[in-house]
Amino acid sequence: MAVTETDTRTILLEVARYRPGEDDKPVFQEYDVPLMPDWAVLDGLNYIKDQLDGSLSFRWSCRMGVCGSCGMNVNGEPRLTCGTFLTEYGEGPVRIEPLKGFPVIRDLVVDIDDFLAKLSSVRPWLVREGEELPLTTEYAQTPAQLEAYKQYSMCINCLLCYSACPVYVLDPDFLGPAAIALAQRYNLDSRDMGDRFDVLNLDDSVWGCVFVGDCTRVCPKHVDPAEAIQRYKVTAALRSVLPWSRR
Ligand code: SF4
Ligand code: FES
Repeated sequence: MAVTETDTRTILLEVARYRPGEDDKPVFQEYDVPLMPDWAVLDGLNYIKDQLDGSLSFRWSCRMGVCGSCGMNVNGEPRLTCGTFLTEYGEGPVRIEPLKGFPVIRDLVVDIDDFLAKLSSVRPWLVREGEELPLTTEYAQTPAQLEAYKQYSMCINCLLCYSACPVYVLDPDFLGPAAIALAQRYNLDSRDMGDRFDVLNLDDSVWGCVFVGDCTRVCPKHVDPAEAIQRYKVTAALRSVLPWSRR
């Protein structure tokens, strides 16, 4: 992130600052950062942290759209800040806020405990029943069996879909897009024998979704959680008339 004397263009970042328990309310602090053609919003935040104000708090790790930790609201839209270029915003300013719908821990860092509990509730792992095969045995799958759930396995738990979801923002009990998409990731896996009907067939689960589709629109990994939810609605409806069908 070397900045030379010839890098004279800058862009204004308006960054939300808030320390719950110490501050009355969030405020925006302004910082001028170099407008480099290859800088993402995250690079601008790191410039602030390294050069201007070391007290700014935010999460990031991989810088390549894999870890899912750098999600923030950028000019009102949930985005991965490592995958959003500053040049997208012309002359600026760029307003950076924590993801909507989650309690703020500090500045741009949000508390994701609620999501983690919801994720655990759908048992996001391969559930097996009966005798386990030895560890040396493969659970083979055909390419078609892999394709059946692969799209949903691309989720990186970035929570942009929750921040965009109008239901979750109004009803924190709603299970939410990513947890349901990940439930479907395992429901559709030929190796899985689990039954997640009791968690998914609820008013606060798939039936709470009003199909706005913003979760799918903002998802950086093309998981399409809205489709996952509608597909399970069909499964749940079928199951009410064919109780023995599970998927
Ligand atoms: S479904 Fe998409 S937006 Fe939602 S957590 Fe997974 S990767 Fe992020
Ligand atoms: S830093 Fe890992 S996804 Fe952005």
